[in-house]
Formats: sequence, C-alpha cells, structure tokens
Amino acid sequence: MRRPMVAGNWKMHGTRASVAELTQGLGEMPIPSGIEVAVFPPALFISQVIDGLEGKGIIVGAQNSAVQPEQGALTGEVAPSQLAEVGCKLVLVGHSERRQIIGESDEVLNRKFAAAQKSGLTPVLCVGETLEEREAGKTLEVVGRQLSSVIDAFGIAAFANAVIAYEPVWAIGTGLTASPQQAQDVHAAIRKQLAVKDAEVANKVQLLYGGSVKAANAAELFGMPDIDGGLIGGASLNADEFGAICRAAGN
Ligand code: PGA
Repeated sequence: MRRPMVAGNWKMHGTRASVAELTQGLGEMPIPSGIEVAVFPPALFISQVIDGLEGKGIIVGAQNSAVQPEQGALTGEVAPSQLAEVGCKLVLVGHSERRQIIGESDEVLNRKFAAAQKSGLTPVLCVGETLEEREAGKTLEVVGRQLSSVIDAFGIAAFANAVIAYEPVWAIGTGLTASPQQAQDVHAAIRKQLAVKDAEVANKVQLLYGGSVKAANAAELFGMPDIDGGLIGGASLNADEFGAICRAAGN
C-alpha cells in the first residue's frame, strides 16, 4: 500500500512573522494517521520551520538545491548535503516555475535529482504540460519525455527513492483544476511508463497531483486510484485549509 502524502509548497512567500504563525498553526493541527505531511518553505526559513515543527511528525523539504551534492564555490546555491544536515528530507526538482521562469533544462534538473539522492534527500520530480501542449493533444508525450529524461540518465531504480508530482502548468495558481479523471489518466500513464521497466518500483512510487488543490476538491482527486496525495501551493499557506486537505487524504 502506498502512503498518501500531502505536501505544501510555500513558494517565495513569507516573512519571519508569517512563517512563525503558519508553523505554529501546523504544529497544532491533528495529522491523520497513515499519511505523510510535508512542507517546503523558502530556503531562508527552513531552519526556523524545522525547529518550530520539532516532534510534530511533519517532514520539511526544500524547493530547490544545487547541481552538486557537496558544499563548495557555487555562489547563491544551497547544497543538498547542507539541506540534509539541517534536517531536510525532500527537495522539489523541476517545478514548472523553475523550468519556465528560471529556464532550468532537463540536463540541469537531472544533475539536481542525482545530487539530491546522493545527499540522502528524496527528490520530488515535478512534471506537467502547458495549456498549449494539452490543447495540441501532447500531454502524455510531454510528461513522458520529462520522466524519460531521468529514467534514461539514471535507470528506473532512481524512482525507488523519489516522489513524482504531476502538475499541469495551466492548473497552477489559476484556480483551474484538472478534473479527477484528467489527473487520473496522466497518473495512470506515468505509472505504466515506469511499470514497463520495473513493476515493483511503479507500484510503490507515490504520485502526487498539484494544481489549484484546495479543501473543496481534494477528496475527489485523492480518491482516484493512482493519485497518492497532492502538492499544494496557495492553499498550503493557510494552516486550517492545509489541515482540511490533509484530512481529505487521510479518509
Ligand atoms: P497551486 O500551486 O496549488 O497554488 O496551484 C501548486 C504548485 O505549484 O505546486
């Protein structure tokens, strides 16, 4: 059985004060048994959140990490080994905002994926198509290519210690959500692509859906057979709303 995961991507939001308030709210939130809850604060606040959530059973991850595992001369970056040392467990790799706005290529993302694993972090590989690609009928081709990039570089075994998040770009921050069936179709295709190489890895890997998930639509999405939880942006900035999404995953 795959454990559901609900992960909050705070993106570039927060001040010391708002992060303290959100952390306190999360700490007071009852977590349903049997699910994993994670948050990804901005790098600046990771230590603050780890300290604030001590003993609360919430995993803390980073939104980005460097292309090399170890610390060194790489101005402005944070090494995955440094993140691991302060207590991070997960790192997002390939979020569409980094692919599109920062311009990260598959090659750079592969290096980040490998460096994260080498440092003991679990990468959360984000994949997803733009509206243009969906309308052109290219959704599965695009997602398949993003996934193949990692499989071709490191083999299917790389997904024995990774999470995958399917996030259609057109649904991120727009209030448009993929219908449960649209999301399920892509999740099933992702699992099938992995299963061709290794059925056990495919069966075990957690596949999260992301894109305008909120308390009102979470249960329906999480009820689909290949959706193992969600990567939540905007709705993760409110502890009550995020808590309700966690409860939806626990039911
Ligand atoms: P959203 O963002 O929930 O605000 O749409 C999801 C994400 O980008 O991870």
